[in-house]
Amino acid sequence: MTTDVPTIEWTGDALRLLDQTVLPHRVEFLAVRDVDALVDAIRRLVVRGAPALGVAGAFGVAVAVRQAEREGWDAAGRDAAIARVREARPTAVNLAAGVDRVLPFVAKGADAVAAEAQALLDEDVRGNRAIGAFGADWILARTGDRPLRVLTHCNAGALATAGWGTALGVVRELHGRGRVEIVYADETRPLLQGARLTAWELDQAGIPCVVQADGAAPSTVLRGLVDVAVIGADRIAANGDTANKIGSVGVALACREAGIPLVVAAPWSTVDLALPDGAGVPIEERDAGEVLAWGGARTAPDGVGAYNPAFDVTPARLVTALVTETGVLEVSAGATPAAAAGAGRVR
Ligand code: MRU
Repeated sequence: MTTDVPTIEWTGDALRLLDQTVLPHRVEFLAVRDVDALVDAIRRLVVRGAPALGVAGAFGVAVAVRQAEREGWDAAGRDAAIARVREARPTAVNLAAGVDRVLPFVAKGADAVAAEAQALLDEDVRGNRAIGAFGADWILARTGDRPLRVLTHCNAGALATAGWGTALGVVRELHGRGRVEIVYADETRPLLQGARLTAWELDQAGIPCVVQADGAAPSTVLRGLVDVAVIGADRIAANGDTANKIGSVGVALACREAGIPLVVAAPWSTVDLALPDGAGVPIEERDAGEVLAWGGARTAPDGVGAYNPAFDVTPARLVTALVTETGVLEVSAGATPAAAAGAGRVR
């Protein structure tokens, strides 16, 4: 089982998105029929997570083409709308890649675009199953017989993908093999993807978990309470530097200090071979209000501003293993996405 509710669905004339802003308390859907609504949904994190953004971007082109047909836009207007979808969020390379993948179908109309987007969605689910199996094999080969204590950060689950999940796909696979004792789900400030979404998914799947404050994570690792950390990624540079949700670097440093593996689970579509290293990753900075307020009420003194980067970059030397749908790269031991691509391991 992934989750009972699909994150993203094409209904023929609209993109139906599970509204992740109101989970876990309400399961609601948003029917997106125009580009303004889609860009807003992406920015508000109605749909989020790198692979899910890729699929939403691909279907977003179908939304734009359908709207162009309906409203009589010329090609320039349609292409400008597609560009707005492509640029709605900057860090996850999958969004732009999802849009680019379906561009060759634009001239054939919205149905042709949607069919290619559906192919991307189906590939994503298949890829996640493979990531889960490769990741579980690799982890179990390096740990003893005991059930594992796993730490994860943010949400890299079914909700962040087209289904099953990347990091949580590995956790689901480990659980299926009877090898999960507990998952520490970092709450993931400021938007609580861990507390709201990861805990919801794990609970639905019957996988034991506890939510901890982000600030607790390094200490939990250093106290010997964690066997392996598994996280997702938004963009991985050619050398293995990995951008993921803010707070991932602290987890990575603690893992290195404690001598436990940091596993990054992500599809090849998250690898950006055009970037030699992580210095070039565009880091999204979000609204100050996400940090300065809680539940709609201001917590910081009036007049004080905020620094709110949504992502950080973990250096490749701290990434023990990168698990993709084609296998495992031991990055801190010198394997790189660039070399693997050169050897033909990219789909
Ligand atoms: O801001 P978000 O919620 O889109 O950030 C998501 C993450 O950082 C995930 O860990 C990443 O996209 C991988 S999802 C499989």
